[in-house]
Amino acid sequence: MSLAVEIAGLRLRNPLIAASGTIGYGVEVASLADFSRMGGLVLKGLYLEPREGNPPPRLVETPAGLLNAIGLQGVGARNFVRDFAPRLAGLGTVVLANVCGETIEEYAEVARVLSDAPSISGLEINISCPNVKVGGMAFGADPRMTHAVVAAVRKATRLPLIPKLSPNVTDIAVCARAAHEAGADALSCINTLLGLAIDVERRRPKLAFGTGGLSGPAIRPVAVRMTWQVARAVPIPVIGIGGISCATDALEFLIAGARAVEIGTANFVDLAVYGQIEDGLTDYLKRHGLDRIEQVVGTLEYPERAAVRSET
Ligand SMILES: Cc1cc2nc3c(=O)[nH]c(=O)nc-3n(C[C@H](O)[C@H](O)[C@H](O)COP(=O)(O)O)c2cc1C
Repeated sequence: MSLAVEIAGLRLRNPLIAASGTIGYGVEVASLADFSRMGGLVLKGLYLEPREGNPPPRLVETPAGLLNAIGLQGVGARNFVRDFAPRLAGLGTVVLANVCGETIEEYAEVARVLSDAPSISGLEINISCPNVKVGGMAFGADPRMTHAVVAAVRKATRLPLIPKLSPNVTDIAVCARAAHEAGADALSCINTLLGLAIDVERRRPKLAFGTGGLSGPAIRPVAVRMTWQVARAVPIPVIGIGGISCATDALEFLIAGARAVEIGTANFVDLAVYGQIEDGLTDYLKRHGLDRIEQVVGTLEYPERAAVRSET
């Protein structure tokens, strides 16, 4: 029985990838995580220079969710290549970097710098962070900007490119097509949903930054719907993300058309989630008489007469 999948020319031992921002640079959790049960991991987002991120409070729990405004704190791409990349070589799973930028030129330069690190197998392009004042979500919300960023990064590197789409748009399929046309090898879908939690006594936002990005089980139906739309809109593989914490959750995305999934907020609960989901996927294959997880991808039987909101 095989759980292996291929994404953007990368062979993953299973479709379970740790999501950017929830597993640091991998090395911090080396004593807690069993990387042999992960198909891969995505590093915390990197700009060219180090960043402190936003002031606290930067996290607030919401019903079935987490609202964050970390603000892309990070060590910077050059420091990462010098101090962290060599320690990732023996991790035993596929490592993807998460590329950020305030300008198109910065995205391309970060990609160039990270391409020199042998431990990095591919680049997720973060055009969808809602928690920064410059760039971030703005690049992913406009299909022309999406095209421009992806095309510039395409020229800067030979590594597989996986733009990460924003859910904070009217029609995600339009952005997906723009990223594909600009040279994306696969797409990640989705980043966090823009939210606001209010402390009613103080009449102020609970997060110091104001708004934040919502993640966790609360966003899963939105993420599954968007993954389904994107998978129908482009011929390249889609990585589904949003609120996954068990095998059934992961299967929803795979059936909707995702070739792999990322797990984010659930990492803060228990890093054993990868082993549990892996076992659950194997069990599902057995129960359904299948021998490869790829046989599950895109098998949704959508009722013909049911509503299709987007003509994708
Ligand atoms: C604390 C936190 C930090 C995050 N940092 C990043 C980041 O640096 N880059 C990025 O592309 N996404 C980042 N994300 C978004 C996640 O990778 C993921 O897309 C989102 O949380 C939805 O998945 P989940 O519901 O499984 O958490 C972050 C999410 C959280 C909760």
